Amino acid sequence: MCGIVGFVGKRPAQDILVESLRLLEYRGYDSAGVATVKRGELFVRKRAGRIDDLAELLRQDPVPGFCGIGHTRWATHGAPTDSNAHPHVGGNGLVAVVHNGVIENYATLRQRLEALGYEFQSDTDTEAIAHLIAHHLVSLHEEGHNGAPGEALVEAVRQATAQLKGTYGIAVISPLYPDMIVGARLGSPLVLGVGRSEHFLASDSAALVRHTGRVVYLNDGEIVTVRADEFQVEHIERGAVVPSIQTLDWSAEDTDKGPYPHYMLKEIFEQPRAIENAMRGRINDADATAHFGGLNLTPQQLAQVRRIILTGCGTSWHAGLVGEYLIEEFARIPVEVEYASELRYRNPPIEPGTIVFAIAQSGETADTLAALRESKRKGIPTLAIVNVVGSTIAREADGGIYLHAGPEIGVASTKAFTAQITVLTLLAVYLGRMRHLSAPAGARLLANLRRMPEIVQRTLEEVHDPVRELAHKYHNARNFLYLGRHYNFPIALEGALKLKEISYIHAEGLPAAEMKHGPIALVDEQTPSVIINPRGWVYEKVMANLEEIKARKGPVIAIANEGDTEIARRADDVVYVPAVEDYLQPLVTVIPLQLLAYYIAVLRGCDVDKPRNLAKSVTVE
Ligand code: G6P
Repeated sequence: MCGIVGFVGKRPAQDILVESLRLLEYRGYDSAGVATVKRGELFVRKRAGRIDDLAELLRQDPVPGFCGIGHTRWATHGAPTDSNAHPHVGGNGLVAVVHNGVIENYATLRQRLEALGYEFQSDTDTEAIAHLIAHHLVSLHEEGHNGAPGEALVEAVRQATAQLKGTYGIAVISPLYPDMIVGARLGSPLVLGVGRSEHFLASDSAALVRHTGRVVYLNDGEIVTVRADEFQVEHIERGAVVPSIQTLDWSAEDTDKGPYPHYMLKEIFEQPRAIENAMRGRINDADATAHFGGLNLTPQQLAQVRRIILTGCGTSWHAGLVGEYLIEEFARIPVEVEYASELRYRNPPIEPGTIVFAIAQSGETADTLAALRESKRKGIPTLAIVNVVGSTIAREADGGIYLHAGPEIGVASTKAFTAQITVLTLLAVYLGRMRHLSAPAGARLLANLRRMPEIVQRTLEEVHDPVRELAHKYHNARNFLYLGRHYNFPIALEGALKLKEISYIHAEGLPAAEMKHGPIALVDEQTPSVIINPRGWVYEKVMANLEEIKARKGPVIAIANEGDTEIARRADDVVYVPAVEDYLQPLVTVIPLQLLAYYIAVLRGCDVDKPRNLAKSVTVE
């Protein structure tokens, strides 16, 4: 949450900062701001609202200079007002700071700084960082600090960050040093983009790909000093660091909306490619198994695994539930799926032979990161299934599997979810083949999986128009139920979450049979139930649940297989999806539910890519 950017080079900074902020807007959109420096002067523009509002302000009142920082905010400390917007200025214009994270000791710092005469203009924790850096800078100047030009600013950041408790990714500029930015991180992401005679800072490499494909992922405790032609990285305790420059495999087009009105719709339609990329190079036909390059566990260690914990939040947790069914069915290993926010505090007994997989799109979710750290502390091998390369979870895990789904920018996760399920299917086959699963059985499972990009493509083409029509019929409903069983139970949860997130309609996802233990009381003529019932071994059971709802006059939208005329007679509306084996159904049945949520949200006038109160990457507890 919160996105920060920085630019220093030989081009005007303003437009580059605004454009980069647009690509980070998914991280928060309560307010936005930029600050630049030129010839000893600091220029700050900030405003509550979206990046568009900031862009309008800058059109009327532009900022000059070739060096600047920017911020898009998801409010934690202080309401989303103009004065709480970043950048925050310290020491009467001596420094400007943008910050992502939470400073836990800000109240104490604020008291001390106010006692020293610093006047606070906002309710934020960040302003304490700005005044603290300014305070150290003034002291260093008074003491006659005489390092290389700009060294005093780096030293002031060093001294200030040493006093901070909590998490931060920060970028700092000062009109005294108009050719440099100082960045630092602890617990919040920060990436350096390396260009030709220009450098960039950002919370996420997605903001950089239009300018450079070469990046340095900063580690916790590192401070980076950036100028147009050079940069240096140091660790706050260990001194100079030799940075490793990595090449991004994302391109600028990946971050464009293309012909789509929203990122979410674009990402829904990218799912065939995301599934394809998630399995690329990972199927070993000769041995009828999967292959992963980065698990960092020996086959012996993996063969001895007796229990798996899958952990994550939101949509990633739902993917974990599908993973539980897959791994238990094909590898016969007991699996538990834990909310990361619970796992981190629950302290479950862990037996030898347990491994943990942390599942995340962003690789930055604070609760998932904390669960991963807690598992590592207990000495459990902890692996990651993550989309964002170089993210904190990916780097702190002992090993893992990247999704390769490409940047996901819409706040509601879609293509990362189907990529996660694809990877979990491969993992189930891989672990199964180390155990009882025969080569012909493994080969059959993988051959079916391989057809999924094409089947999902067909699903998209076939369900798109009917689902858009359905949205017109149902978009005024106030409550929805989503029911599914077996592999489609997690999909019921995911369908309900998508609708809640972006259309603000109350929805509950349930295992279809649980409905009669309470939620059936909610059924009436105004409450539609989405019943996911493709043909499979629980088909008849779910059909009985459908009848129970119809008997109580509840409208039913069925997700069923092509040619199922039986269900068409009983349900009010049917969306037909291609028939696939039970274990692959989630990849198909989730598609109409994503589109239903999308079109209902559009019809209700909701901001699909930036739903209220949410942020894509939740880096606070
Ligand atoms: C937020 C987002 C969800 C997402 C969850 C987990 O709550 O709004 O869409 O599923 O975080 O994100 P992660 O990056 O850990 O998968």
